[in-house]
Amino acid sequence: MEIYKNLKPDYQSQMDGTLISFEGIDFCGKSIQIEQLIAKLTAKNISYLLVREPGGTTIAEKIRETLLTKAQENVNPITEYLLFSAARAQLVEQKIIPALQDGNVVICDRYYDSSTAYQGHGRGIDLEIIRQINYFATKGITPHLTFLIDIDLEEMERRKMLIRRELDRMESQQRPFFEKVRLGFLQIAQQESERFCIIDGSKSIETIAIEIWQRFLKLMNKKNILT
Ligand code: TYD
Repeated sequence: MEIYKNLKPDYQSQMDGTLISFEGIDFCGKSIQIEQLIAKLTAKNISYLLVREPGGTTIAEKIRETLLTKAQENVNPITEYLLFSAARAQLVEQKIIPALQDGNVVICDRYYDSSTAYQGHGRGIDLEIIRQINYFATKGITPHLTFLIDIDLEEMERRKMLIRRELDRMESQQRPFFEKVRLGFLQIAQQESERFCIIDGSKSIETIAIEIWQRFLKLMNKKNILT
């Protein structure tokens, strides 16, 4: 890829850190699982950085507000995608790369796969353009491991009903949109099966947490970080 002409293919491998991302449709239960993983990292004295997308820097948090507030006007899907990407570019440069260079475990609550699923599969933006811009925004920084927490649409609707607060702009999208997003995630995970670990999000919180921790340890052992 010619977008970063001076970027060497082994750019990321010069960084000691480990990048883990969590993905899935809204209400899949990512947040609670991230909390569980972080509790275990803390107990083991493993240094980590947690970032959420969109957000994580002053500029990116402003973009987040723009993206999630219910808008007065229709948001053009291209505008939406470029804003998610702009927030991501800022986060990668300002937070993710320095943390990886310092050898930390970086946990991303969503990363570029969300754009592929939501803006690519969900909104219908050309997947090849998405691939290129995702690369451009992240300098090709790729997760070592991605947990996809998968729930079906019935489960999503059930959980949505239990929410007491007002839904944000993305959460308020209609069911057919989320159907496409879910299938999009599953397709991405199938295409990159080495990187992905698909988790059945209908299982209990404790069962999922154990599954995630075991998969995480396997990765760390492979990287000779924990034995
Ligand atoms: P958030 O409140 O953080 O939701 P969640 O807890 O489910 O992560 O809002 C992020 C929303 O933005 C969520 O609906 C997914 C959507 N999103 C995209 O559409 N594209 C993206 O690239 C990212 C990062 C998020």
